Amino acid sequence: MTRHIISVNDLTAKQILKLFTLVDSDITFPLPFSNPILATLFFEPSTRTRLSFESAMLKYGGKVISASDLATTSIEKGESLKDTIRIVSDSYANIIAIRHKVKGAVAEVAQYSSVPIINAGDGTGEHPTQCFGDLYVLWKRFGTLKDVRVLLCGDLEYSRAAHSLKLGLKHMGAIPIEYQYYYPLGGPIPEYNYIDAIYITRQQSERHTSPYPIVDYNHHMQAIVNQPFAKDALIMSPLPRAGEISEQLDQDPRAVYFEQAKAGVPIRKALLAYLLGAITL
Ligand code: NCD
Repeated sequence: MTRHIISVNDLTAKQILKLFTLVDSDITFPLPFSNPILATLFFEPSTRTRLSFESAMLKYGGKVISASDLATTSIEKGESLKDTIRIVSDSYANIIAIRHKVKGAVAEVAQYSSVPIINAGDGTGEHPTQCFGDLYVLWKRFGTLKDVRVLLCGDLEYSRAAHSLKLGLKHMGAIPIEYQYYYPLGGPIPEYNYIDAIYITRQQSERHTSPYPIVDYNHHMQAIVNQPFAKDALIMSPLPRAGEISEQLDQDPRAVYFEQAKAGVPIRKALLAYLLGAITL
């Protein structure tokens, strides 16, 4: 059966730890066959995710084909995504990474693919490969994920990165704590015992279906990182930032968001190797 990664839960906790160990050992993955081709089909904007997938495949020794603008593909002419996937998986590529604005769309079309499909973000749904990178950074820092306490904050309702991280943390025996400071507006910050990491997501304005009040995210963020419970907490973000994380924070030794972005390449490289059958997890 063709393997896909649609959700963080598509790998067991044991497989995720093995993935991290492999990434950590910096091994060179064998090619399952010569010149594997990755297709990146991104129907929503992306910088880090698409480029890190492409960089991972190139470093792995493969090749990349790409469609990123809906208006330049046949989908604009009425071809369904289902048909696109049937065709790309049948003869163009050995593995496909898809980003789509509709939650559940990637899972749906995966049924029509004869090659592995990776969910590179489906609307407000999930973003599993971002999550594996996020969990990897936490695992590296704490040596385990068991009982690691992560405060998720920001626009949690609409953030797929936060949705996947919440699932992933639970999956690994860590403790996600949610603080959606969008609601109630300007409410007091709860008092937490201690927190190992703070994960901040930007306001996901493009996904808001009804008008949302303007919130000073930077103010909230600063207030949180200045709390005594956050004294030693890692400051994490899937990026991009949209005003909530000031550049001053970049110098803060607690900030690890660029480390997260960097982890994206080796993590995706190992996932490609796994999905292509070059390694087992
Ligand atoms: C995230 C996404 O696209 O969901 N970005 C990313 O892939 N690093 C986070 C976001 O856009 O807020």
